[in-house]
Amino acid sequence: MVEYQDILNEIHDTLSKVKNTGEVANYIPELAKVDKNHLGIHLQLITGENFAMGDSQEKFSIQSISKVLSLAKAFQLIGTSLWGRVDVEPSGNPFNHLSLLELENGIPRNPLINAGAIVIADVLLSNLKNPKEDFLNFVRELSHDDSIEYNNAIAESERVTGFNNYAAANLLKSFGNLHNEVEDVLDFYFHQCSIMMNCQQLTNAFFVFANKGKCLKNIRHLSANKVKRINAIMLTCGFYDEAGEFAFEVGLPGKSGVGGGIVALLPHCYTIATWAPALNPQGNSYLGMKALEHFTTKTDLSIF
Ligand code: DON
Repeated sequence: MVEYQDILNEIHDTLSKVKNTGEVANYIPELAKVDKNHLGIHLQLITGENFAMGDSQEKFSIQSISKVLSLAKAFQLIGTSLWGRVDVEPSGNPFNHLSLLELENGIPRNPLINAGAIVIADVLLSNLKNPKEDFLNFVRELSHDDSIEYNNAIAESERVTGFNNYAAANLLKSFGNLHNEVEDVLDFYFHQCSIMMNCQQLTNAFFVFANKGKCLKNIRHLSANKVKRINAIMLTCGFYDEAGEFAFEVGLPGKSGVGGGIVALLPHCYTIATWAPALNPQGNSYLGMKALEHFTTKTDLSIF
């Protein structure tokens, strides 16, 4: 039997001795206020058993992790027609890179880079009655937790410094790949990124991707076929120009955010979330990646 709690404790001991060379994201001023020394992990097995370590109950801004949840909602709403608006190829470029978007006529490489997620936000705006409220309810339903909220201060902080995302949205609009107004789409996008969750809540929300489309309470939200596609996109695109490195070191579909969170999963086996706010130069959590590498190596539980 795998001693999961012992393994999480060992990871904590090992990482507390590692020099944390990462830095917290400072291009969104509200995120720069977070202490870089947090470290939390939560593991949830498909059987419902839970194991935790460190700051696993502290909430943080999920940032780009939200892109998987918005993709899931958009895919649920409009199905395969989504792929006419956004591609499913890794970009091999940073999350906020723009030049490929122009070269490729306004079709973002994938839904997990910023431009792709902005197109997904546009789809949600066109297809939800009360977009912000309905999306938050979707995240709450997946997580079985009504305490999950937007952080308006973080959304506003990102809006006033969001020149790159305004550029992406305007470029998309110029190619006809944004149907709603730039300001409305970005307001939704900045809010989805501002959602506050802790590691345990993230393992709850992502249970659906480890369980062929059924959430913790065994309610179906997505078909197994759609979950297969979303997991493939996480594996190939979830870490931007470090997607290869994450597959090589960790070997799981997953998604990072510049708030320092990472969530990953082994289909039919477990979901795991880490939070360590200091980021490496690619914008992925420095210690979070190391924690997950240790975890899949020690347990021998990865997709490879
Ligand atoms: O749009 C942005 O730049 C942020 N709201 C999200 C970026 C992000 O989390 C990239 N992930 N590692």
